[in-house]
Amino acid sequence: MSTGQLDAADRPLARDNAFAPSSFDYAALLDGSPQMRAIRTIVENIADTDATVLIHGESGVGKDLVARAIHAASARRGGPFIKVNCAAIPGELLESELFGHERGAFTGAHRRKPGQFEYADNGAMFLDEIAELPLTLQAKLLHVLQDFRFTRVGGHAPIEVDTRVIAATNRDLERAIERGEFREDLYYRLNVVEIHVPPLRERREEIPLLVSAFLSRFNAQYGRQKELAPETLARLMEHPWSGNVRELENTIRRMVVLTEGEQAFAVSLARRRNGHATAAAAPIASESLREIARRAAREAERKALVEVLDRSHWNRAKASRILKVSYKTLLNKIAECGLTPPAAARVLAPARSDGRLGQNAPLSSA
Ligand SMILES: Nc1ncnc2c1ncn2[C@@H]1O[C@H](COP(=O)(O)OP(=O)(O)OP(=O)(O)O)[C@@H](O)[C@H]1O
Ligand SMILES: [Mg+2]
Repeated sequence: MSTGQLDAADRPLARDNAFAPSSFDYAALLDGSPQMRAIRTIVENIADTDATVLIHGESGVGKDLVARAIHAASARRGGPFIKVNCAAIPGELLESELFGHERGAFTGAHRRKPGQFEYADNGAMFLDEIAELPLTLQAKLLHVLQDFRFTRVGGHAPIEVDTRVIAATNRDLERAIERGEFREDLYYRLNVVEIHVPPLRERREEIPLLVSAFLSRFNAQYGRQKELAPETLARLMEHPWSGNVRELENTIRRMVVLTEGEQAFAVSLARRRNGHATAAAAPIASESLREIARRAAREAERKALVEVLDRSHWNRAKASRILKVSYKTLLNKIAECGLTPPAAARVLAPARSDGRLGQNAPLSSA
């Protein structure tokens, strides 16, 4: 039950949250393998409950998407889905981010600020990278999960929220418990329903469906009619995909955007197979060693930038911390590499019946 503590003056802050209420597309969770179909069944089975869910799996497997699907399938779907990435916010600010603070609670707290838990009222609270939650906050969260009441930092009045908690991690929480880094009681409280999203290499049969969906989406997004040759699909099926679905998604994006994207993927795969993976892929005929080294470094830098920005959903502050450069340096590098955040457009279309993937254009184009 909500006590409705948010007043009108507080509301605009909710819109500042990049993950604040938005629309969901439950169908976006493609389920082209028995493992993903089993996950969809769990999502449907718990749709009419408020059970707390713990999602685990490697980075890029689709934990975010599963969390959104849980919310979209639930009776709370009309309410907000609030995501807080526990790894992206420094420990000392996380308590206030989650639970809010009263004016004057600490230096710099010039005004009262509601926490994300309050914005999640009547909706869902998605705690991503839960393993990074400091131990002191783990204790507070455990209490909140018991009666859904808490106080803001520096406050006394209890706040009550009605929310469904979903947590995700790519770390082994049982090992974290053994190391004393994660509370066992919190683990059991979160783990009412457990969903393991397997790595893509264990569900390769999903690749054609995912490729087709990504191809349609990026063709629409970038105004292309790119199709993939059957041998490219065969190569995509073999690739190890250590970065999981996210890596596959980015690979297809490159193939759509770059004319030579498909060939570049084939070359990199062949290099990897021969044990000659290098950052530089262009011919080196007339370059000096120094130029080659510079170009390789630039390309490696660009690749790391693209990956980290993608992983952090273009959260530049987080990306600068991960890459251990200043925020300003990161912005300069982004500009130097000509990177721009992806548009939000998403259009999914089924695979064609002739075995080729993509739009109706007869030949490959980019
Ligand atoms: N089953 C799927 N169907 C369609 N798209 C998917 C699927 N799984 C993952 N994706 C896409 O792959 C990308 C990575 O997924 P997501 O962000 O959910 O992964 P994650 O497990 O939360 O990763 P991280 O641990 O890095 O946060 C997203 O763009 C997502 O839309
Ligand atoms: Mg995620």
